[in-house]
Amino acid sequence: FKYIIVGDSSVGKSNLLMKFAHNKFTEDYQATIGVEFGAKNIEIEQQIYRVQIWDTAGQENFRSITKAYYKNSVCAMVVYDITNDNSFKHVQNWIEDIRNQSSKTVLIILVGNKIDLEDKRVISYDEGNEFAMKNGIIFGETSAKTGVGIEEIFYKSIKEIIKNMNENYYELSSETCGIKKGN
Ligand code: GTP
Ligand code: MG
Repeated sequence: FKYIIVGDSSVGKSNLLMKFAHNKFTEDYQATIGVEFGAKNIEIEQQIYRVQIWDTAGQENFRSITKAYYKNSVCAMVVYDITNDNSFKHVQNWIEDIRNQSSKTVLIILVGNKIDLEDKRVISYDEGNEFAMKNGIIFGETSAKTGVGIEEIFYKSIKEIIKNMNENYYELSSETCGIKKGN
């Protein structure tokens, strides 16, 4: 399953990926240049699913490079920072980008990150959840620092993809659906 992670700069996309794939977190901010890659195998009901994740740069000047990665993704995660109002405001733009650039069947997930910083929170759980419900997308909150919520959101998305597959939602013969069948 090919995933892409998008969202404003410094919301914690790279750390979410690092925590998920390698159980690592770094306090120092190192902006992603272009696109970084990570992967992890997940077992669900005796089946192994390999999740390949493209972590994109949030910085504006890389936009033309990162857009090339929207195609061929089965799932797009839009991340905002619950302590940063602007990063939440921009979610709408990220979703528009995804709808314009990705396959029609792309699953969009909204993630509110940095919930360990509860005292600095400016976007409530309900705000995030309501936005997601209005837009018909899956929602979850996470902390890349503590790891809270990360497995849940990936499992949720994978289970949704499996459900969609069972309902023949994807055109598996085409690369653009973001799913490749193994042996
Ligand atoms: P770009 O690559 O520029 O798009 O940024 P990014 O979204 O990949 O952000 P990154 O993962 O590099 O994290 C930015 C900063 O926020 C770093 O200093 C991280 O340590 C910090 N950070 C990320 N996630 C969390 C979190 O869940 N909690 C806290 N407290 N800090 C976090
Ligand atoms: Mg990054």
